Amino acid sequence: MKSPTILLLLSGLFLAGCYYDNEEDLYPSNCNTDSVTYSGDVAPIISTNCLVCHSTAANLGNVRLEGYTALKTYVTNGKLLGAIKHQSGFSAMPQNAPKLSACNIAKIQKWVDDGALDN
Ligand code: HEC
Repeated sequence: MKSPTILLLLSGLFLAGCYYDNEEDLYPSNCNTDSVTYSGDVAPIISTNCLVCHSTAANLGNVRLEGYTALKTYVTNGKLLGAIKHQSGFSAMPQNAPKLSACNIAKIQKWVDDGALDN
């Protein structure tokens, strides 16, 4: 009677581990978007995922996203959110790479909804 109990316990731990690993993808509501700022959240996401192609120097596709003013242009014309959310009519970004995590997309969306401030 003992070993099935242990097996059950172990599989429970295993499942808990998986749940924890995938928490962000599965449950974006656990994503904290309470106080999203350009400098604290958005700029680092863009820097990590986009500037390899869209820095001022790289300028791939004639798209520059380095610095607040450059990025704001793509907020205003709607292309930033269209591209990262893979909406039709926009080029899906980041190019040739997996979609940004649901949490990172939610943070950028929140920042835009808050007025895309230089904060
Ligand atoms: C590997 C290089 C590469 C990476 C990384 C990359 N892009 Fe791009 N991006 C391009 C190229 C090339 C174009 C122009 C051709 C096209 O639209 O597909 C482009 C176009 C765009 C456009 C214009 C889209 C449109 O529909 O007109 C936006 C906005 C954009 N990128 C945002 C981003 C964002 C935000 C990221 C990071 C999450 C990112 N890109 C990452 C290469 C890249």
